[in-house]
Amino acid sequence: MRKKIVAGNWKMNKTLPEAKSLLAEIDSYIQSNSSKCEVIVGIPFVYLENAKVNHKNLKVFSEDISEHKSGAYTGEVSAEMLKSVNVDGSIIGHSERRQYHKETDEQIGAKIKIALEYGLTPIFCNGEILEERKAGRHFDVVKKQTEVALFGLTAEEISKVIIAYEPVWAIGTGETATPEQAQEIHAHIRSLIADKYGKEVADSISILYGGSVKPSNAKEIFSKPDVDGGLIGGAALNINDFSALINTYSEI
Ligand code: PGA
Repeated sequence: MRKKIVAGNWKMNKTLPEAKSLLAEIDSYIQSNSSKCEVIVGIPFVYLENAKVNHKNLKVFSEDISEHKSGAYTGEVSAEMLKSVNVDGSIIGHSERRQYHKETDEQIGAKIKIALEYGLTPIFCNGEILEERKAGRHFDVVKKQTEVALFGLTAEEISKVIIAYEPVWAIGTGETATPEQAQEIHAHIRSLIADKYGKEVADSISILYGGSVKPSNAKEIFSKPDVDGGLIGGAALNINDFSALINTYSEI
């Protein structure tokens, strides 16, 4: 059985006291309610060193990582640095990085490779923009993103990657893909991996859905056979919504 995962992406939100208190609330929620899924929080770089959690099912991720090992890259944070403050993994290739920082699939592939080299778990984000969806190109767009960023990896390496399908038109917009739309793309991604690496590898990889997931729609989406959880922005910023999302897996 592949892992079910509820992952939060805090983006550029929260002060240090706010970040500490939300992390402590999530940690204690998981301690007192035996969660049926793994929980990940992607938090700003500046809080990572202070992000100490107790429960083994709660993992702390960065929201990005440098594609370079070290050197003259002002403002960048390397895999080695993240490892040295005990970070578990990194969200890589989020659509906001693609859009505002012009990250390419090649760069995203390099980031995934270096994360794996340092023992960090990558969450690889893919997903089409609205124009591409309207033109019926979403399957092709996601195929190309996945092939370029992931298919240079070995079977052993790709097995350590978490994928997050996030249609850009559904991020922060309140508009969610229907559970059927999520399922068909997730199945598509899994079949691409099966064609390249075999069914066993494809069946072992967790594929999360992201884009306006909230307590009211999570159960329907997470119940689809190829959806293994969610990458959540807005609803990850308060304990009531985020704990309800974690709890979804007690009801499926
Ligand atoms: P959202 O963000 O849940 O606020 O739509 C999702 C994401 O960007 O990962």
